[in-house]
Amino acid sequence: MNSTALAQEVRAQLAGEHRYEHVVRVAELADRFARAHGVDPDRARLAGMLHDLARLYSAERLLKESAQRGLVVDEFELRNPIVLHARLGAELARERFGVNDEGVLSAIRKHTLAAAAMSPLDEVVYLADSLEPGRPFAGREALEKLAFENLSAGMLATLSASLTYLAGRGLEAAPQTLAALDRYRNPAVTKGATTCPI
Ligand SMILES: [Fe+2]
Ligand SMILES: [Fe+2]
Repeated sequence: MNSTALAQEVRAQLAGEHRYEHVVRVAELADRFARAHGVDPDRARLAGMLHDLARLYSAERLLKESAQRGLVVDEFELRNPIVLHARLGAELARERFGVNDEGVLSAIRKHTLAAAAMSPLDEVVYLADSLEPGRPFAGREALEKLAFENLSAGMLATLSASLTYLAGRGLEAAPQTLAALDRYRNPAVTKGATTCPI
């Protein structure tokens, strides 16, 4: 599928101009982050375009479709089914768009909660989703600038901002996100254990 056909299909499947415009901005920023950090921009752009395929699904549909595909749903996901749109989205990217690139699928899976082990491609997509210019929160531009300069520093600062946001609203943080924060805070401790091949 060429990029124009892919964009048209994503637009049709997202059933909302607002969400489509978001994924286009994420794809564009992921492309730019990728070029700045020696990551394949085409893979970053593809993951950006497909990362939110299940974002508009209801909690019931997310749980049902995840179960149908044999995805093991953890306790945090049961309490917060919306986060399943990332893992389910990777399955939809495979099924509907024929994506077999495990690195691209991994980036889609980790785009919401992050993880203790993230590849540069995972990081680029996570940061692009968090920092795309349609999210007008205070400090966004500074985080974007940092992410262009240094991926790990960008991850640490963006994860910290995200967790501060959640805490300020009394919302629960996922274990994966806390593990990611720990890994970026203590890179020397976990070095080697977190090398991600994809
Ligand atoms: Fe998302
Ligand atoms: Fe998104």
